[in-house]
Amino acid sequence: MPEKTILKALAGETQATPPIWMMRQAGRYLPEYRETRAQAGDFLSLCYNPELAAEVTLQPIRRYGFDAAILFADILLVPQALGADLWFVTGEGPRLSTITTQAGMDKLKPVSEIHETLNPVYETVRILSRELPKETTLIGFAGAPWTVATYMIAGRGTKDQGPAHALKSENRPLFEALLDRITEATVEYLSAQIEAGAEVVKLFDSWAGSLKGDDFDRYAVEPARLIISQIKERHPGIPVIAFPREAGDGYIGFHKRTGADCVAVDDSVDAAWVAEHVQVDGCVQGNLKSSHMVTGGQALVDETRRIVDALKGGPHIFNLGHGITPDADPENVQLMIDTIRNG
Ligand code: CP3
Repeated sequence: MPEKTILKALAGETQATPPIWMMRQAGRYLPEYRETRAQAGDFLSLCYNPELAAEVTLQPIRRYGFDAAILFADILLVPQALGADLWFVTGEGPRLSTITTQAGMDKLKPVSEIHETLNPVYETVRILSRELPKETTLIGFAGAPWTVATYMIAGRGTKDQGPAHALKSENRPLFEALLDRITEATVEYLSAQIEAGAEVVKLFDSWAGSLKGDDFDRYAVEPARLIISQIKERHPGIPVIAFPREAGDGYIGFHKRTGADCVAVDDSVDAAWVAEHVQVDGCVQGNLKSSHMVTGGQALVDETRRIVDALKGGPHIFNLGHGITPDADPENVQLMIDTIRNG
């Protein structure tokens, strides 16, 4: 059995106190993050600066002693490495050059060239694997093909992923060729992170919830299964966390269908339901509402206890249902941790 608490949970061990980390734990709610980000310039410069990216990854570990550190990077670095233009508009979010035609697809770089752009990320991983405390697990990550494709097709975040759904129905071969290219790049990217020292990898499918029926099977389940099987073939023993956000009933059977060691769940599903329908197949991660990190108080304590209690019968990694927001109070994070660790 592994020693680190996160790896124990991922190996299927039920623990009296669940290990804890938080999506976006290195982020704008922390004054030390804002300071380092200002030093780096913009967000992308921070992602591609190994020393500073490692520094912001370490900040929440120093402050809170989380059980895992997640590499500081972004899911949209893969499109950029494939040749898309990428920039961030302050207060609005990402912008990319769009791909909606074969000509656009033809302009993408071959997967073998992505490392030229992504090498600094691997260097961040190497620094972290030297500098993290020995009990802290290092998680690498990538976006899942569907979620990454929604940004590459629309050129930005969208509420309903309309442009990606439109391309899927109007030019399915092109849509599928794009997903295949992202799938292949993701396997190479995650493998390189593992070779640099990532001990676990996580696949973020933030927009999986807008895929229904067959589309969910073809574009959320199948790419995850392909990526996980190739990662496991190349790197036996490396656990994978899958996060098909807002999958609803699609969470049921997701471990078995994809080979994921852990399924992360968002806060739209009840923890008791998760225990009954998802945790029966293996480790689950989640799922406190991020808004509690803003509002705090007794409601935060009660809800944290309720989730821990609902999921105590099986392997569980405590996390939020989605990323912590910039308006969160750092003291509420400490309150959540104290509630979990001290009862
Ligand atoms: O969790 C972590 O702390 C690790 C780093 C990480 C970031 N983004 C840093 C980030 C991870 C794992 C991501 C994943 C990511 N990025 C996702 C999937 C998870 C999710 O949130 O659904 C998505 C969809 C993106 C794309 C992205 N990056 C968007 C839409 C935005 C803008 C929204 C926002 O919060 O501002 C980003 C920017 C981003 N990525 C920030 C951080 C810390 C904020 C940038 C800043 O400092 O200004």
